[in-house]
Amino acid sequence: MKSLGVGIVGTGWVAGSHIRAFEANPHTEVRAIVSRDKHRAIAKADEFKLALCRAYDRLEELLDDPAIHVVSICTPHHLHVEQGIAAAKAGKHLVLEKPVALDLKGLCELQKAVEAAKVKTVVSFVLRWNPLFELIKTWLAEKVIGNLFLAEVDYLHGISPQYAQYAWNIKKEIGRSSLLTAGCHAVDALRWFVGRRAVEVFAYANFSPRNPFHYEYEPNSITLVRFEDGTLGKVSSSVECVQPYLFNIELVGDEGTIRNNQVFSKRWTGQKGWATFPTIQPDSGDVAHHPFKDQVAHFVDCILNDRESHANLEDAAQTHEICFASEISAREKRPVALPLTATAAK
Ligand SMILES: NC(=O)c1ccc[n+]([C@@H]2O[C@H](COP(=O)([O-])OP(=O)(O)OC[C@H]3O[C@@H](n4cnc5c(N)ncnc54)[C@H](OP(=O)(O)O)[C@@H]3O)[C@@H](O)[C@H]2O)c1
Repeated sequence: MKSLGVGIVGTGWVAGSHIRAFEANPHTEVRAIVSRDKHRAIAKADEFKLALCRAYDRLEELLDDPAIHVVSICTPHHLHVEQGIAAAKAGKHLVLEKPVALDLKGLCELQKAVEAAKVKTVVSFVLRWNPLFELIKTWLAEKVIGNLFLAEVDYLHGISPQYAQYAWNIKKEIGRSSLLTAGCHAVDALRWFVGRRAVEVFAYANFSPRNPFHYEYEPNSITLVRFEDGTLGKVSSSVECVQPYLFNIELVGDEGTIRNNQVFSKRWTGQKGWATFPTIQPDSGDVAHHPFKDQVAHFVDCILNDRESHANLEDAAQTHEICFASEISAREKRPVALPLTATAAK
């Protein structure tokens, strides 16, 4: 029998990718699914041929189940804090979908519950396990572009009515902002590549003239981030753009530049143009393309060897603070200092 039992909360799009990833791991098996309607949990278990998987219609039932060690939260954003706190209090390790919280208060409450319960967490900034990300981290560590001083990461992905999440995602109280709903992947990538603390944020956000998808919040934003060492960052985010999915990375150093899978480096004598590295890039918004199996393998290793994930809740909190600060800055038309204080975040 596999050593870790997993409970999945939610039966939608990303839940399928989590199930596939846990089932592929030699140490984990999905033993329960929670849905608001038990029939949907049964149907999801059938879809993945999980013969012994239990179906629940209340989270509490899953949390009382002693065969469950890891809980994966795959529900809409506004439920993550409450469900995450309940699961942590029940002593379950947590895979948290992004965003983990929609405001600073919720984030702090979730952090407190996780710290008190001493459970392990990983937040699904799943692109950290994309092969291009791993390649870029190696280039940066080897100083192929020298010292980084400008960084841009953009998230352009039209979340239109063809997505199941569209129905709830366009609502202000659930989707909240272009960054929180999805552009946080780019904010997290920016932090991951720069590797420093952010100290100040300035942002603008807008609606397109027609707002064709009827977003209740500005679905587009541009966020500037100043890091502690003076490095400047920029994130453009749009969830209403009309184009194929685009995740753009540009990192400028004093000895070269990285543009997605292309590099120009002064260190490579005689280089005349961009060197292109054929690798898997973050070029699809489809969750089937995302490296959830690698994220799960990493997290299982953290649990079994009592290690903290580099993408744990504590780290993800810094990504979320940039997103909260971006929202405040766009609303109040002023730069916002980090870390946020309770008064600044209101
Ligand atoms: N990391 C990534 O790359 C990535 C990619 C996609 C999505 N996500 C995140 O994953 C989460 C889920 O997104 P999704 O695209 O899977 O959404 P989805 O397809 O709409 O699925 C969400 C599921 O949550 C359950 N749910 C519980 N309460 C609900 C409510 N009040 N309204 C709607 N559904 C409710 C539903 O299952 P039942 O009806 O059976 O209860 C539903 O199927 C979001 O936080 C999203 O940002 C992350």
